[in-house]
Amino acid sequence: MVIYSLPRYQDFEHKIDGKKTHLFILRNRTGMQVAFTDYGARIVSILVPDKAGNLRDVLLGFNSIHDYLQADEQYHGATIGRFANRIAHGSFQLDGEKYTLQQNNGRNSLHGGATGFHTKVWDRRTSFKNKIDFCYISPDGEEGFPGNLKVTVTYELTENNEISIKYLAETDKKTVINLTNHAYFNLDGEGHGDVLDHILHIPADHFLPIDEHQIPIDQPVPVEGTLFDFRSPKRLSTDITKDDEQLRRGNGYDHTLVNNQPFSKIAASAFSPHSGIRLEVLTTEPGIQLYTGNFLSGKDIGKSGRPYPSRSAFCFETQHYPNSPNNPHFPSVVLEPGDRWESETIYRFCIKKEM
Ligand code: BGC
Repeated sequence: MVIYSLPRYQDFEHKIDGKKTHLFILRNRTGMQVAFTDYGARIVSILVPDKAGNLRDVLLGFNSIHDYLQADEQYHGATIGRFANRIAHGSFQLDGEKYTLQQNNGRNSLHGGATGFHTKVWDRRTSFKNKIDFCYISPDGEEGFPGNLKVTVTYELTENNEISIKYLAETDKKTVINLTNHAYFNLDGEGHGDVLDHILHIPADHFLPIDEHQIPIDQPVPVEGTLFDFRSPKRLSTDITKDDEQLRRGNGYDHTLVNNQPFSKIAASAFSPHSGIRLEVLTTEPGIQLYTGNFLSGKDIGKSGRPYPSRSAFCFETQHYPNSPNNPHFPSVVLEPGDRWESETIYRFCIKKEM
């Protein structure tokens, strides 16, 4: 049995591009502890009690900035921007003007490009006992995107075992934006084998099928009769290895499920029968990217000294749809000067006997 603990402050004291990095910790009265770093405005650890009262760290990640910088997978727990997920051919048009982005994923642009928000040292603006604000100003033209974009990400740990993430952004020039957090969860604890026994429940009636470049083909299609139907609780292992064109293209689940729930209702949940830990997601975003860690290579050794192979975690990335700048039918990702981009997601943890 692994005894999980938080990383040490001193292992996050480092300098990247001349800016100092740090570790920050929030705790609540029920014993939950969450660690963050300003490198990528990312979540580092989420310690929650399991059904036996033992703390488990349910988030994949590393013990030091050095390990984050060396990692094979760059996105662990990070804020993703300016544009989460893929933009086809690394280009889009706004008011007739063409913008060209770096193609860092085959012919796509992925997660804001190689020097996206996950690689920036964010400023910590304010801190309260249970809240932390990270702020970053992305200059006009950074990674090919127009407009000086000011972004604030506020994390709050509530007494209800919730991590709330609020995003706020403003621009001085018309631009596109899609922000998310790339938390990799394993509800048995990071480094604790695969997540195939986890039971998922997602009320989405529709999902976005993808082409061979992992770009949504067109409109959402009904999940009815597909392997993407999680409207009744379903073990992840049930369908994930079935012979299916969509699963082949994603190398597993790597698809947007269309969120049909208001912010007050659970948009997705996952439960581990072993730990008894359940994660509930509430969001204002129109989509949830269900990603089953298919491309995790096993090269990364995580916080408790164990490797992170394929399917050793899952992500519920709340966001707008991939490639939206090139698809006029998708909810708009355009941000105008004078408007505010506001979005909120809650990751809530609880203990259950069954799903
Ligand atoms: C994407 C995957 C990608 C991964 C990279 C996810 O958000 O959906 O396709 O491989 O991020 O970590």
